[in-house]
Amino acid sequence: MMEYIVKPLLSWYDGHARVLPWREEISPYRVWVSEIMLQQTRVEAVKPYFERFVKALPDVHALAECPEDELLKLWEGLGYYNRVRNMQKAARVIVDKYDGKFPADYKKLLELPGIGHYTAGAVSSIAFGICMPAVDGNVLRVLSRLQASYDDILSQSVKHTFEEELQKIIPEDRAGDFNQALIEIGAIVCVPNGKAKCGECPLGFCCKAKERGIVDELPKKKAKKERRVENRTVLVLREGNRVAIRKRPEKGLLAGLYELPNLEGTLSDEEVLLRLRERGFSPIRILPLAPAKHIFSHVEWRMTGYAVSLEESEDMDKDGLFFIDARETEEKYPIPAAFAAYARYMDIVLGQEKYEEGRKDV
Ligand code: ADE
Repeated sequence: MMEYIVKPLLSWYDGHARVLPWREEISPYRVWVSEIMLQQTRVEAVKPYFERFVKALPDVHALAECPEDELLKLWEGLGYYNRVRNMQKAARVIVDKYDGKFPADYKKLLELPGIGHYTAGAVSSIAFGICMPAVDGNVLRVLSRLQASYDDILSQSVKHTFEEELQKIIPEDRAGDFNQALIEIGAIVCVPNGKAKCGECPLGFCCKAKERGIVDELPKKKAKKERRVENRTVLVLREGNRVAIRKRPEKGLLAGLYELPNLEGTLSDEEVLLRLRERGFSPIRILPLAPAKHIFSHVEWRMTGYAVSLEESEDMDKDGLFFIDARETEEKYPIPAAFAAYARYMDIVLGQEKYEEGRKDV
């Protein structure tokens, strides 16, 4: 029913597609890595992660064999760390079952760990030219507006309906470009938050939301459950030049990553000193640090922090804590961005901040 969007969409894409590293040299591996990263954060933020990741791990074999800490370090700051763990599981299946080559088959891709309809559609269409849709948040926004649909775009059935409609019109010779063009329109023209550039849109001629003046009302998303709030007290524990970190449990939030020691609740300096003494440490000085907040998908951490200097004792590494040189942490141990505000007091920089403009590695 929407065949009339195909030609104007592709002509527009030919003139407006952004130059992006994963579009320069296309392989199933590179498409896959970029698409998973793009599910986490903005295109601009993905670029340096992508370059670094494919340089360190240029193919599925390298990914399949990468030690976990190294892998998590490459992902540090992107969030949803299970995604990269699943990528490694998928890489191992591709090596074991498909001789290291991505199957050029939508259904087989869908069976791989961490690959859902969107990613399977993106890899099959962009890397293999298979006519399957790739419907992400961008595409849902564009289609809701084109059709002036008030349906809840978080509903699976709405997404499925859009997928079925697209499937009928994907052009055989340009499946990947078609999907990317829709994503691109959503990313740079049909943008959210009252900033849609309808004057530049090649699909304005058939956009029902534009016609009815309701572009900014769409798309509709049913309100999500509220996030749980957790208070935590984060400690920058120093002994000489060394600071304490520990590994998080293998299950649950931020599984298997490293963290600064932290305690449940908002504790006073007296309470922190007491807890440390109970564990056999000898604190010399304590300094309150600014509060910080980190938002995960289901939880929000409200953190308060203290920098504590400890006297050296024989048995420093206990309770799962170990003391290491701060530089070593920056290079080797993946620490989630939730701790970035406090990691700064160790003079280390984590995740996305590493790539911010003006930063110099010395
Ligand atoms: N967002 C999701 N997939 C993308 C792609 N292939 N190019 C640009 N932005 C994207």
